[in-house]
This record gives sequence, C-alpha cells and structure tokens, in this order.
Amino acid sequence: MKRDFLTSADFSAEKVQQLFELSAQMKADTQAKRHLDVLKGHCAAMIFQKPSLRTRMTFDIGMQQLGGTAIYLGPAEIALGVRESAHDIAKNLERWADLIVARVFAQADIEELARASRVPVINALSDDEHPCQAMADYFTLFERGLWGRDVRLAFIGDGNNTCCAVMTLGAVVGADVRVATPPGYEPPAAAVERARALAEESGGTLTVCNDPVEAVRGANAVYTDTWASMHVAHEAEQRRPKFQPYQVNRALLDKAGPGAVAMHCLPAHRNEEITDDVMDGPDSVIFDQAENRLHVQKAVILECMGLAGTR
Ligand code: CP
Ligand code: NVA
Repeated sequence: MKRDFLTSADFSAEKVQQLFELSAQMKADTQAKRHLDVLKGHCAAMIFQKPSLRTRMTFDIGMQQLGGTAIYLGPAEIALGVRESAHDIAKNLERWADLIVARVFAQADIEELARASRVPVINALSDDEHPCQAMADYFTLFERGLWGRDVRLAFIGDGNNTCCAVMTLGAVVGADVRVATPPGYEPPAAAVERARALAEESGGTLTVCNDPVEAVRGANAVYTDTWASMHVAHEAEQRRPKFQPYQVNRALLDKAGPGAVAMHCLPAHRNEEITDDVMDGPDSVIFDQAENRLHVQKAVILECMGLAGTR
C-alpha cells in the first residue's frame, strides 16, 4: 500500500519520532559523505505551481543522496488544472515516476493527485498546509533535546499554511502551541478544531489569541512567517500596518522563556515580520530549519515509498 504525506496530521506521534531518528541517521550519513543507493533507478516528479528555493533544492538533492533522481516541472510546463487536470497528470506521472512531490495552490489538487496516483504523493506546500516544513521544524527542536510536552512553541503572525502545519504537528506530538495573530487572521476554524482534537489525544495544548506577548510567555521557541503568503501576495501592502505589532524582534523574544529560539520557515522579509538582529542573532535556528528540510524529507520519502526500514 502506498503512503501519501498530504497534511501534518498524517503521521502518528510514534511515527514522527521514528522518522526523526531516521532523519538524524540521514544527516549523519550526509555529514560523513556516506552515499546511499536505496533509491537507485527511482525518480521523483516534482510539480511546482509556486516559486521555491528550499523545497525544490532539498527534494532534488535528497533524491540524489538516496541514489535516485528528480525532475522539476514548473508552472509553465504543465499548467495544472488549465492544460491538464490533476487527475490526468497523476495518471501519466505514475507510469514513469516512483514518487510525486507537489507544491500547489488548492489542497484539493494535492488530494486529487494522491487519489488518482498509484505512486506516493508528498505535499510540498499548499495554500492550507506545509507538512514537510513542520517536520523539519520539530526535528530542529528534537535535535536540541525538545520533544513532545517539552516544546512550548509560539507562532506569531499570520494564521497561514505554515502556522496550520506547525500547530497541527505540535498537537500530534503533544506540544504546548500558542498562536497569536492580528484579529481576522487567525488560522481557519476547521484547522484549529482538528488540532484541538489531536491535542486532546496527545496531551498537548493549543491557545489561539491576538496577543503576541501572552503567546510568547514561557515559550522556548518563537516562530514567524511572512505576513502575506504567496497565494495572498497582493494583500501585502494592506496587511503591513495590521501585522506590525506582531513583528518578532528582540523586545518580543526577550519576553519569551529563557533560551528561547527564533524560528522562520523562510523566505523572510527582513525587518518586517522578523528583525535582522533576531534572524542573525545567537538564538536563531532558522538556517538549521532550512538545513534539516533535506534530511527530514529523505526520511519522509523513504517512509512514503515503504523503504524506511532499509536504512
Ligand atoms: N520554506 C520553504 O518552503 O521555502 P521555499 O518556498 O523556498 O521552498
Ligand atoms: N506561508 C508562506 C510559506 C513559504 C514557504 C507562503 O505560502 O508563501
């Protein structure tokens, strides 16, 4: 049975922990320049409807480090939903490729790709979700000895795809997640409801509020993302004054718990949602998050292809 990774609720806490252990091995392999050939002869098709630096690079390099290859299909190539439907694209790709990685606008498109495809589908970001990012983020904390209930993460800013992913995966693993957004920019009610249900099972907690200072109090990780995501980029100007009080700067980070780390999924709009001193300061784990995308995704790829036990 193929396994897809479409949302941050798809893996159990136990599975996430296993994948983090595998990610740590993957990272050690790469650092030791140990080459794996577990995916020799395998190819990933990578559909991107939106721009990307990290996701494209890390899936491509990750496939190579596992012995496989990846082919990039940009918006101009396949025009998903315009030139051809998600269903028909999947029906073609499954004949040639062993894995589909897709960055889309509508979550429904990634779900349609997964329904139609015989080969696994991994969500590389949609308007609603960014599960590979959330995996890399919690792995970055895991590497620092923070796991489950020890994680007290405050997400400050827009209740967007990254926020939903971080909130949901936090609920899966039993973290204490606090979200503070400007009024009207909270994460969608359905995502909050699902995360609350998951937190109830895991022993985690979830607070959604509009007060950044309340959210960061006692937190050991303070996370932010752009105020206007790619799918709402046209709102950037109009959002700026509403989001200004939610900037992650030194004064806000100082109100968090001792030793709190600063997190951002990138790309950052420096001195908008995050200031230079925080981003480049000693508390930043932002480029560790970016580095870890590579290793966590290799573990996710192997899991989805039913090969996680082979390393
Ligand atoms: N964080 C992230 O997904 O970055 P890219 O948009 O560059 O892939
Ligand atoms: N929330 C951002 C994340 C980019 C990686 C966006 O969707 O543009």
